[in-house]
Amino acid sequence: MSQGISDSHVQHAVDAALAAISGASSSAALKTVATEHTGDKSPLAHLNAQLRDAPPEKKAALGKLVGGARGRVAQALKDREAEINAAEQAARLTAERVDVTALPSRFREGARHPLSLLQDRVCDVFVGMGWEIAEGPELESEWFNFDALNFDADHPARAMQDTFFIDPPEHHLVLRTHTSPVQVRSMLERPLPLYVLAPGRVFRTDEFDATHLPVFTQFEGIAVDHGLTMAHLKGTLDHFVKAIFGPEAMIRLRPSYFPFTEPSAELDFWHPTFAGGARWIEWGGCGMVHPHVLRSAGIDPDEYSGFAFGMGVERGLMLRNGVQDMRDMAEGDIRFSQQFGMVV
Ligand code: PHE
Repeated sequence: MSQGISDSHVQHAVDAALAAISGASSSAALKTVATEHTGDKSPLAHLNAQLRDAPPEKKAALGKLVGGARGRVAQALKDREAEINAAEQAARLTAERVDVTALPSRFREGARHPLSLLQDRVCDVFVGMGWEIAEGPELESEWFNFDALNFDADHPARAMQDTFFIDPPEHHLVLRTHTSPVQVRSMLERPLPLYVLAPGRVFRTDEFDATHLPVFTQFEGIAVDHGLTMAHLKGTLDHFVKAIFGPEAMIRLRPSYFPFTEPSAELDFWHPTFAGGARWIEWGGCGMVHPHVLRSAGIDPDEYSGFAFGMGVERGLMLRNGVQDMRDMAEGDIRFSQQFGMVV
């Protein structure tokens, strides 16, 4: 079948292959074209196989003819493959383009407020000692906020400049000025012995400045049991400040006065890393629950004794994290909260 190999046969096969190659527009199509025009069953492979039967004197020339044709087609395939790869890569890059300057569509999660975080930590320390957590209402009756806590009818704390009274006056409602009413509520509601921590918001007609907020946060502790003394109070507070501020922290109790505790003390505490140097800083009030207060909650002061304490969370945050201005804690700027992340 050597007569099967002719210039026109070869040219025909090459033309068909080149046309198919330049018509292929994807690497998948090109693969099919390659199989059809250069594979085992292609016309060129067929012509190549026929070389075997060519007369010896024509073999060299025919071999050159077919070999040259196969070479041209192989080169065309290679060139087209490079073109298609480049085009496909460019299309992929366009499709997968990322605009690094685009605004993220992700919802920005905030951060928990550092006051809430510190409050949770305080609660954790007391829960770790077996205490319970309680809450009381922010809108409180005057009786719980003052009378049951042994405030005289003419005690200055009741005066208009400290307390937000709620209309109408005959309802005797106030925004609680401290968390101490929860002492009385806990004693009325819970069985004895009683170990309760009550965090929450309190309200006073104070200025809004670097060291005062009209709305701030306290936590109140109340323990009532047989035979409790100031030593239990001091030991509890000592453990607490060390748990929150580290083992170097120390406390000191300074005689003071509150209508609902007797004896009463200011709680000072000391830490080597305070801004401004190691020194004693006042942090709250405490004392032994006044017998009148026990009685107003129906508890016999001859049988039970109790201790109580109250501290400000904002002040704790200032001392612990070096916050200079309390207003930062109230203004709700998320950049402030984010500095604290999840952990205070
Ligand atoms: N309630 C007091 C205050 O707000 C603090 C306090 C609590 C004092 C418990 C003694 C006992 O200043």
